Amino acid sequence: MLKSISIALCLFLASSSVYAASPRTNYLLYCSGCHRTTGEGKPPNVPTLVDELGKMMSVPEMRGYLVRIPGASQAPINDEELTEVINWVLEELNEDTLPNDFQKLTLGEVSEARKNVLADPLKYRIQFWKDYED
Ligand code: HEC
Repeated sequence: MLKSISIALCLFLASSSVYAASPRTNYLLYCSGCHRTTGEGKPPNVPTLVDELGKMMSVPEMRGYLVRIPGASQAPINDEELTEVINWVLEELNEDTLPNDFQKLTLGEVSEARKNVLADPLKYRIQFWKDYED
């Protein structure tokens, strides 16, 4: 009896050590301290992640921007998890505004962009919205 309980406990511990959090859980853990759990922003400093990012996906260089934002690139998760979180944010919170030919972010492009954190994210945002609205 004791032996089977210890085997069951070992199996449980072994499986929990390979447990990977879902993108939504990682979003709640590492992003929702600043962005709301629904993805809405907290004015005036934290922008919304709902619908606006889908519009950004129509401009190729903005893919890297989403990763290079300090809050995203410096989150304590690995490149694979960050790729999943950003794709989750895009597909779940921006599905109405994504371009028809949208391709998910790849691990390679996230790893590359992440090495180059943006010093001045506001400059990119302002330029994007200026071009988008023209
Ligand atoms: C410490 C607070 C904080 C955390 C944590 C945070 N962010 Fe942000 N985020 C911001 C702020 C502030 C901005 C506005 C740009 C800037 O000043 O960096 C922003 C901007 C963004 C943008 C650009 C939106 C736009 O419209 O320009 C994205 C995408 C983003 N964050 C994603 C994330 C993701 C994904 C996570 C979690 C992995 C995260 N952020 C965690 C504060 C945070």
